[in-house]
Amino acid sequence: EMSTTALSNGQGDHTGIVRRITCVGAGYVGGPTCAMIANKCPHITVTVVDMNTEKIDEWNSDNLPIFEPGLEEIVMKCRGTNLFFSSDIPKAIREADLIFISVNTPTKMYGKGKGMAPDLKYVESVARSIAEHAGGPKIVVEKSTVPVKAAESILSILRDAQRTNTNLTFQVLSNPEFLAEGTAMRDLANPDRVLIGGENSEEGRKAVAALVDVYSSWVAPERIITTNTWSSELSKLVANAFLAQRISSINSVSAICEATGADVREVAHAVGFDTRIGNKFLNASVGFGGSCFQKDVLSLVYLCECLNLKEVAAYWHGVIEINNWQRRRFADKIISEMFNTVAGKKIAIFGFAFKKNTGDTRESSAIHVCRHLMEEQAKLAIFDPKVTEEQMRRELTIETSEESVKKLVTVHSDAYEAAKDAHAIVILTEWDEFTGYDYNRIYKSMVHPAALFDGRLLFERKKMEDMGFRFFGIGSAPTHLTRVGFVASQ
Ligand code: NAI
Repeated sequence: EMSTTALSNGQGDHTGIVRRITCVGAGYVGGPTCAMIANKCPHITVTVVDMNTEKIDEWNSDNLPIFEPGLEEIVMKCRGTNLFFSSDIPKAIREADLIFISVNTPTKMYGKGKGMAPDLKYVESVARSIAEHAGGPKIVVEKSTVPVKAAESILSILRDAQRTNTNLTFQVLSNPEFLAEGTAMRDLANPDRVLIGGENSEEGRKAVAALVDVYSSWVAPERIITTNTWSSELSKLVANAFLAQRISSINSVSAICEATGADVREVAHAVGFDTRIGNKFLNASVGFGGSCFQKDVLSLVYLCECLNLKEVAAYWHGVIEINNWQRRRFADKIISEMFNTVAGKKIAIFGFAFKKNTGDTRESSAIHVCRHLMEEQAKLAIFDPKVTEEQMRRELTIETSEESVKKLVTVHSDAYEAAKDAHAIVILTEWDEFTGYDYNRIYKSMVHPAALFDGRLLFERKKMEDMGFRFFGIGSAPTHLTRVGFVASQ
């Protein structure tokens, strides 16, 4: 009987209720999601495992490996009660009723699909570990963002193990994660929706029901969407593509604004009032970053190419092209406004994380802007409230030689110190604290004329100009251009 249902728990009883969850991958997704499940489901024991044993030690310490507002409180509350972090992957797999796969799926950097396709080697290796150590029925849940049909590959590996061990049964579900770093705990506690895809069969529906039951502890039923597996996998890629597209759309408009005297904030406000468009996610900036948008849009593009949908692939690839162009455009603006030479000039960089309220720097636009400035031999004095010096240097060294990073970059633990004797300040992350500094004091400590390049629309032009700064903001023109009549007379 055990072999016919995926709904028994690891101990072998047939309640159909999930009591033990194991999550493989203790990263930005695995850590916060499991902390939330443990917090909301006291009847479930949650174990998070990772092959990186140092990371697991950090999860078990007072110094958690990731910063996320509200995370620490919940981990401290649940850890040791129904939330555990462990390096014993086989044991955690054996004991689980349900296993989340939350490992990274970065863009492939080799071979077929290089620079486009997501690398599924980590997902596959987890599938193989599950096949090896399961011992009994398991529900396996893809939480990692994967291409459409990835569940099929996982299932093939698992089904193969069933041939030699008839105690094994597997259901593979897709349950993509929609949390945003910086607001992960809020997003998890109060998700817009939870998406669960499964096989259209009795066993499939039972497995879906078991996972729905987990989320039902705190998510309203109308917010839990169930679909077939492929719709679920594709929806995650599409959701990220639409989000990234909105940023590239408004960023493309920001260039028009800079050239005409329109203000991108006013345009976004006016356009966003249309309820069909909506006012969220319309902030122009130096470009999106983070581990997901670029990777997932490229994954979608690659999928389209593989399906021979060339026009669709090109359409979505434009989102990435605009993002790269916006980063480059901003760096070029800095250089040209600093009298076409930044060589040897100290430039203060405020913010290195890809967005506020996270220490994550993966694909941060800051990396690209800094690289462009370093190519021009600018001396960068970087400050970020959450990113360590070591991490900045590691990121910068990926695309720039260690020697130039050493020569051109200093990292500061204080914004005032970073700005002292600088020719310019460049805002690359929208940290709240950046608007609270004493800019009169900062201005006085700088080399004059002092420039402020606002890549995140944090400042009012007039206020900063009145202080003495030469001000350059994304999506707004210098004051003389905005005067009535100027544009028309061009
Ligand atoms: P991460 O890199 O922070 O964490 C992944 C963890 O998996 C690492 O600690 C790594 O050591 C571990 N790992 C890799 N292979 C393993 C194996 N075979 N056995 C055990 N552990 C293994 O990645 P992150 O950001 O948590 O992303 C995970 C997935 O979730 C990705 O597919 C990503 O696209 C997706 N996602 C990420 C979001 C985010 O905001 N970071 C949001 C939504 C989805």
